[in-house]
Amino acid sequence: MVDLSTDLRRALVQTLERARKRYLAGEDARAAADYELASRLALKLAHNAPDRRSEYKHKKDALRFREVGKRLLAGEAPPVHERGRGAEPAADRQDQPAAGGRASGAAGLERRAGSVAREDDEALASAVAGLITASSVTWDEIGGLEEVKREIKYALALSLAQAPEGVRVSRFRNMMFYGPPGTGKTLLAAATSNALRRSARHETRAVFYNVKVSSLMSKYFGESARLVSELYGQARDASPSVVFLDEFDALAGSRDREDSGAERRLLSTILAELDGLAEKGRDDIYVLTIAATNRPWDLDEAVLSRFDKKVLIPLPDAASRAAILNIHFAAKGFASEVPLEELVEMTAGYSGRELERFAKEVQNRMIAEMNPELAELVDRGLEAVRGYRLRVRQLTRADFEHAAQRITPQTSPEEMEQFIRWQESMSV
Ligand SMILES: Nc1ncnc2c1ncn2[C@@H]1O[C@H](COP(=O)(O)OP(=O)(O)OP(=O)(O)O)[C@@H](O)[C@H]1O
Ligand SMILES: [Mg+2]
Repeated sequence: MVDLSTDLRRALVQTLERARKRYLAGEDARAAADYELASRLALKLAHNAPDRRSEYKHKKDALRFREVGKRLLAGEAPPVHERGRGAEPAADRQDQPAAGGRASGAAGLERRAGSVAREDDEALASAVAGLITASSVTWDEIGGLEEVKREIKYALALSLAQAPEGVRVSRFRNMMFYGPPGTGKTLLAAATSNALRRSARHETRAVFYNVKVSSLMSKYFGESARLVSELYGQARDASPSVVFLDEFDALAGSRDREDSGAERRLLSTILAELDGLAEKGRDDIYVLTIAATNRPWDLDEAVLSRFDKKVLIPLPDAASRAAILNIHFAAKGFASEVPLEELVEMTAGYSGRELERFAKEVQNRMIAEMNPELAELVDRGLEAVRGYRLRVRQLTRADFEHAAQRITPQTSPEEMEQFIRWQESMSV
């Protein structure tokens, strides 16, 4: 096998030498481009690093070189009079001290940028730590979607189980959930996180990172690519772990707008992480990425092809609606005069989110009617409210019909059809 790292390291050294020469010769813009290139080479080295420590070191170098490049472009260099023609062979002796000044300026620039990069690193690391979430959603709280739940559990089990000696089982690394709004995509990811967290043995617990790609773009714009590298770096450290990329289509939205460097960098960083280059040949590391979107057709082939599993999370069918309605009514202790089958029909076309709203409307109407004095109780003090027991009655047909009138399904049958057509187009 060719040792890619040796070549990369040589290229990096040459690039840095050239960058310094150009800087000394006063060619700031070209020097900046070299530093940018050096940064990319260092990142590649990071991806090929044999262990996490050298990966981290190369990533830090990459950040530092990028920072130097940026500063050069911003004109944050030592004053112009220090600029010498040191790089030119014909430079006469008198130029040397000046060139030296510029040279030490270059080193100082790198040092200063280094400390800035270090501070940034820490801020970035804590931003990533803030993405770790814990949820209490259990599989039982998700109605229907039995097949999907099984698939996720299977993928997790396969990836966490031990392979027999000498056998390498290929594992699911990237999964994508797509489907109309409110069908349980985020809920499924939360249940996955909870299932992993609840493991009794500490060493098998997994960490769950919850990232909204849309907010990655708005909140960390410009830094979003770095945040993603740091995120996956930490996720590898915390292996086994799950990275949940919600509202994933935000990544594609950039194609319509003016394409910016930051967005391109984010996209290529995510693609590289989805490829899992940094994990190649390392069976001890497992990072599962789950992306969720309701606009899968906005994503291009380069992105889509990186998901081993693309799972349609559809609007709930009759059986799933029965399961979800059960979660919201019978399982919560509400009695109803309307048989479940009728409610299932009444809510045709509803998403899980709409079913939840439906249940809330129904229950609120009954509670408000049975407890008209509830609001006034507050005026009598908290004690009075605490001592009050809510009155309830059986839910009536009128309660359900009233709620059904107020909730119109957000996703039309034609729109649902669009998801199914897309699913078919993927499997040919
Ligand atoms: N299958 C389900 N079982 C029970 N509740 C559900 C189900 N699907 C959705 N819900 C309810 O709807 C809410 C919204 O679901 P969720 O956030 O998972 O939707 P989503 O598919 O991620 O939607 P979006 O595409 O808009 O992000 C949940 O908090 C839950 O209360
Ligand atoms: Mg969601």
